[in-house]
Amino acid sequence: MERTSKLPFARPDLSDGEFEAVKRVMESGWITSGPETDAFETEFAAMIGAPGAAALNSATAALHLGLVALGIGPGDVVLVPALTFTATAEVVSRTGARPVLLDVDRDDYLLSPGAVQCFLEGCKQTAEGPVCDLGRVRAVICVHYGGRVCDLDALFALCERAGIELLQDAAHSFPAKDGPGYVGRRGPVTAFSFYATKNMTTGEGGMITGDRPDLIERVRRMRLHGIATPAHRRAGWHYDVVEQGYKYNLSDIASAIGRVQLQRAHSMWERRKLIHESYQRAFSEIPGIRPCPEQSGSAYHLYTLEIDSNRDQFIAAMEEKNIGTGLHFIPLYRMTYYRERYGLQPQQFPACEEIFARIVSLPIYSAMSDEDCMDVIAAVQAIMA
Ligand SMILES: Cc1ncc(COP(=O)(O)O)c(C=O)c1O
Repeated sequence: MERTSKLPFARPDLSDGEFEAVKRVMESGWITSGPETDAFETEFAAMIGAPGAAALNSATAALHLGLVALGIGPGDVVLVPALTFTATAEVVSRTGARPVLLDVDRDDYLLSPGAVQCFLEGCKQTAEGPVCDLGRVRAVICVHYGGRVCDLDALFALCERAGIELLQDAAHSFPAKDGPGYVGRRGPVTAFSFYATKNMTTGEGGMITGDRPDLIERVRRMRLHGIATPAHRRAGWHYDVVEQGYKYNLSDIASAIGRVQLQRAHSMWERRKLIHESYQRAFSEIPGIRPCPEQSGSAYHLYTLEIDSNRDQFIAAMEEKNIGTGLHFIPLYRMTYYRERYGLQPQQFPACEEIFARIVSLPIYSAMSDEDCMDVIAAVQAIMA
């Protein structure tokens, strides 16, 4: 029996608890950033064991302010994987620095320490750190694609040796394991996304975590116009603007949703893991497809398949069977802006090209029922038969 209603590619998992929390905050008389956001930050940091956290209105804002707080700007180069969402590179160019795209690992789709090392070996080593033709290399932003975590031990060691910073784009990876703890517990900047399709959501939202208290405090100030003391902590009318600011704060309504999502994060993650395991069992036996690369401790944000034959026909057939799919990602060098601005060619990125030609993302989210999951499996089996 085929589905009569469409299974969307993603859907937020919201319970009565989130609705009640929003109502409580709306009735309180304080709906912008305030005590609820303070509590959300504290609880998020405690959950992942991060020394500090600041809530923002997106992961994009978290990465942007992270770069600004690290002093990255014109004349600087930041290394970024080519298989990511535009936000990862966009924030670099917005500071005036140059994003340099690197190819990813063919097997796990992640930025490998080897690729970073190879780039750094082509740089001139100076007292100021590594310098390439395009400028001074200041940082790497690694992306924990799909919820799988990059080799952080090797990347941190490599960056420390080279005298550059490692930032983590963890938009897909809450909650994901970094050794014995969670992603976000180490390094100066880890950026999380609470966008509508993410593992936990506040509609729109984000969080920066980091192990340098001064940096997090500065982000907290910059997120709201560079004002020294936020409104809910001021007694009277006086306030001072102490540096260049932005409007990147998260509202208490969003934070109220986030606090409840945080309490449900583990059970939502378990549900995703279960769906991932069902897919792996079902798809590992089917010739002509490659199941999702495996990593224990993943956040299981995306479930990707590689299709040996015609991927676009596969997507159309899934659509006919009423099952939504996604594609993560069209590599950045294929986007007009990056191609034209930086003169990039697909042949510079052989692994991304192979992955892009073959991948498709299947629905995986905690609001899916067992029947939804079985429908996806049946549809893939029927199409590949
Ligand atoms: C890898 C990656 N980085 C960053 C972002 C940006 O997240 P946000 O929408 O919270 O700014 C996304 C969003 O989809 C993403 O997929």
